[in-house]
Amino acid sequence: MTRIYLETYGCQMNEADSELMSGVLVRAGFELVGDPAAADILLLNTCAVREHAEQRVLGRITDLARHKQARPGVLLGVTGCMAQHLRGRLLEHSRWLDLVIGPDSYRDLPELLARAARGPVARAEPDPAETYGDLEPLRAPGVRAWVPVQRGCDKFCAYCIVPFTRGRERSLPLEHGLREIRRAVAGGCREVVLLGQTVNSWHDGGRDFADLLRAARAVEGLLRLRFVSPHPAHMTPRLVETMAEGGPVCPQLHLPLQSAADPVLAAMGRGHTLADYDDVVRRLRAAVPDLALSTDVIVGFPGETAADFACTEEYLRATRFDSAFLFKYSSRPGTRAAALPETVTEEEKNHRLARLIALQHDVAAS
Ligand code: 5AD
Ligand code: SF4
Repeated sequence: MTRIYLETYGCQMNEADSELMSGVLVRAGFELVGDPAAADILLLNTCAVREHAEQRVLGRITDLARHKQARPGVLLGVTGCMAQHLRGRLLEHSRWLDLVIGPDSYRDLPELLARAARGPVARAEPDPAETYGDLEPLRAPGVRAWVPVQRGCDKFCAYCIVPFTRGRERSLPLEHGLREIRRAVAGGCREVVLLGQTVNSWHDGGRDFADLLRAARAVEGLLRLRFVSPHPAHMTPRLVETMAEGGPVCPQLHLPLQSAADPVLAAMGRGHTLADYDDVVRRLRAAVPDLALSTDVIVGFPGETAADFACTEEYLRATRFDSAFLFKYSSRPGTRAAALPETVTEEEKNHRLARLIALQHDVAAS
């Protein structure tokens, strides 16, 4: 039996993809192992959202290559967003790699692995129809299950690689999503996290994300229901109302802000102003009084002035997020922002990041 070791980087969507791959592989007769030294095939499921994530994976490839040196015949492969982003160039970049597989090709993993034994394989064609809605993942045991209900993204924010690595937005049909939730609950889990890059733009025919939440919360045995990540532009009044109705729907939301300066939001192409975002926060907090609210912020986007940054500081101080994921802007080749001149020095980015970390720390402590 061929033994596979699979290591996952990046977001929850990648965790869910690894569970999907595990399901495909085990059904095809492969055995999953937790120790690379005991495996015939080593796979890294990767993230490309910031350069730092890619650097880590490149380091890890070199690390794992020693298993190939020690045991000829061992295969080393990269899947996920980095595979899609760099495609065949990854094979050239690293002479250790045998396999490069993008996020829309996991259905064919067994066949691609068999081919890789005969020579390097790269498969990274986007498939705009692939939702994997019919494939059963092999979930890590536990009370929480990730259930992807949407793949890809159509927003094309100027800094973001995701629309290029994960392709166009597509929603799983309602019935497929519900079947996965029921299956997870039947398997012992009590909490479901619905996943999508802009999960609240999910739709199926005339049904929107509020309809999906309403159907999902009725699944018997489900105690907690969450979703990540919503986009501010799709926080409809009905969705807020559905959250306010509670039940298994948790009073918790991770709502990416990115910047609180309108010129930066416009340059990022976020599709909303600060006032729009703040309106969502006010509606949410009025309807769900005990809401735990978290966010993402990027500092040092091209063109972000000291005054723009001050707006973000002021907004974080005033809004008092329960937590915030704070990132330095990282230019991603192929995105619109990559063509803009970088106006914020690395030193200034570090300075702005440190200020926000300290500010958020103060907010959390007081
Ligand atoms: N540079 C820095 N941060 C980024 N993010 C996405 N792309 C970039 C980038 N190029 C951040 C955003 C997003 C989170 C998942 O990662 O804040 O919400
Ligand atoms: Fe990237 Fe914007 Fe899509 Fe989020 S909404 S995945 S930041 S393009």
